[in-house]
Amino acid sequence: MNAVSFSEHAFSVEWGPLEASKFNTLLHAFSEAKKAVLVDENTQEYCLEFLLTSFEALADAEVIVLPAGEQSKVLEICAQVWETLTEAGFGRHDLLINLGGGMVTDLGGFAASIFKRGITFINIPTSLLAIVDASIGGKTGINFASYKNQIGTFSEPKATFIDLRFLSTLPHVEWKNGFAELLKHALIADPDLWLKLTACQEISEELNQQMIRRGVEIKQEVVLADPLEKGKRKVLNFGHTIGHAIESYYLHSDTPVSHGHAVAIGLLLESHLSMTLSSLNQNEFLAIERAIKKHFTLQIPRDINAIWELMQQDKKNQNNEVRICLLSRIGVCQHDQKLAFEDFERVYNTYLV
Ligand SMILES: NC(=O)c1ccc[n+]([C@@H]2O[C@H](COP(=O)([O-])OP(=O)(O)OC[C@H]3O[C@@H](n4cnc5c(N)ncnc54)[C@H](O)[C@@H]3O)[C@@H](O)[C@H]2O)c1
Ligand SMILES: [Zn+2]
Repeated sequence: MNAVSFSEHAFSVEWGPLEASKFNTLLHAFSEAKKAVLVDENTQEYCLEFLLTSFEALADAEVIVLPAGEQSKVLEICAQVWETLTEAGFGRHDLLINLGGGMVTDLGGFAASIFKRGITFINIPTSLLAIVDASIGGKTGINFASYKNQIGTFSEPKATFIDLRFLSTLPHVEWKNGFAELLKHALIADPDLWLKLTACQEISEELNQQMIRRGVEIKQEVVLADPLEKGKRKVLNFGHTIGHAIESYYLHSDTPVSHGHAVAIGLLLESHLSMTLSSLNQNEFLAIERAIKKHFTLQIPRDINAIWELMQQDKKNQNNEVRICLLSRIGVCQHDQKLAFEDFERVYNTYLV
């Protein structure tokens, strides 16, 4: 039996203006409960006021503000959230609302999922990356000992509300980070979406709601088929075996690389591996290379051994072997492919000048 089970309505995602959604009804269902809103410094500045002034039920909500950035996705900060909830007397029947990017939804979901053995949480994603990826699918977590998402749970939010109004204040660089995950969704599942995305010149303006929605749909479809990542869900990690290693490598450096940016680099290198180890054809690889290089700079550590060592920690590995996802063509991805150091080295070295 699975340790975690997902309800029939798992991954309920509602689109559109928040004030016209079921969010208000849900808040009323929690009218007797204590409520807290988790934000970071930026979503406090740009998104919180709208929420607090639009929903009377949140008038007395506790507001918990985290320092912005991936460095906050750690146990110490999580403990501060638990401290605040404890001091405010939160119990099993109370509610946490995560209003932010993937850092806030990952950490908030994790904090809620084990506080008093689990309290209800709602995600309201405010970055493109959180909308198309982090806020849906039930994975929560924090980084630990330099490893990405080393500690975490599978735990579904009560609901995720997607209101694209929040994107109006998102910095351009953050649009690009979300774009990397959208590219990934297209590469693993949808050649048409891939063509539409790669035709965009300007990421923030030209990305339309339809493309964003399709990205979310792909994630939902894959997750619903395999919620606990026993098999097919692993394809969502395409680009992440190398991407996470690069992100972890730079995590505590003076030049940290954001998750989306690291994933973009991972997509390129893992596509290259797909050409050498699987059946991805050269034309498709070159199209992927053009798309990634157009939007992202390739910041690739020279220390290949350190990257390989970080890849050993990947959660998809089995029997001490690195397992990776490979494209057989754009739109078709295979998981659980063994990767030998020699093959990795040959491709990686072509990117070191
Ligand atoms: N759980 C999952 O399945 C999953 C999937 C993909 C990524 N992730 C995680 O998501 C995280 C990355 O998410 P992210 O890129 O959203 O990071 P983030 O939450 O750090 O947000 C990026 C930046 O954008 C700012 N921001 C967010 N919304 C804003 C808005 N509306 N206006 C202005 N600024 C805003 C944030 O304050 C931050 O500075 C990583 O930790 C990654 O591991 C999780
Ligand atoms: Zn990711």
